[in-house]
Amino acid sequence: MSELPFILDEMTVEDIPEVMRIERRVFSAMWTSGIYRREITANPWSHYYVLRPKHPALPPILAYGGVWRMDESAHIPTIATHPDWQGRRLGSYLLLHLLLKGEALGCTEATLEVRASNYPAQKLYLRHGFEVAGIRYHYYNDNGEDAVIMTRPTLARTALLAELAAMEADLQERWRRYYFSSPA
Ligand SMILES: CC(C)(COP(=O)(O)OP(=O)(O)OC[C@H]1O[C@@H](n2cnc3c(N)ncnc32)[C@H](O)[C@@H]1OP(=O)(O)O)[C@@H](O)C(=O)NCCC(=O)NCCS
Repeated sequence: MSELPFILDEMTVEDIPEVMRIERRVFSAMWTSGIYRREITANPWSHYYVLRPKHPALPPILAYGGVWRMDESAHIPTIATHPDWQGRRLGSYLLLHLLLKGEALGCTEATLEVRASNYPAQKLYLRHGFEVAGIRYHYYNDNGEDAVIMTRPTLARTALLAELAAMEADLQERWRRYYFSSPA
């Protein structure tokens, strides 16, 4: 049985208020609740997940994100970790699951766009096999910032499962040492 102090679960419409609370804190140009509702209920190509802590004293959602199947590409439209829980590999764990979902849907590569100034997110993607593929100049409407296009050229299942196993071991060790909190 997993010793991880959270579970991966599909995002539901009931999750949207909590997702919006996190969204407001981490994104300068946030999505609306209507976008999330449509993504969950009306977009057949999208799949959204959340990390729910097992401990009731923690925020109900620690991280969330989605993946779209776009022909052979798994596109990551959004991913975020609760601002009080960043830097603990939750984003890495969730990203690997999104990539695995893309692979299970038949995708052979992954793509995303990230703000040029968003170094934590770029670090996350570089750590997990993404490369810079180009720039979309003045892509973001709110401030005219450029988007960095990043791609992961392969999505081999065995490689993803090995990355996930290493990530789970790292996460278990980190949470045991620094952040462990067992249910009361
Ligand atoms: C990007 C994001 C999802 C990463 O989630 P996370 O749970 O912190 O991910 P990880 O713990 O796996 O960390 C990934 C890397 O980012 C670094 N990082 C995380 N938070 C950071 C912060 N606030 N400042 C600087 N670096 C940070 C980590 O140290 C790690 O780098 P390393 O591999 O060199 O150690 C999270 O920072 C976030 O929610 N950001 C706001 C929303 C966002 O920008 N989403 C991406 C849109 S493209």
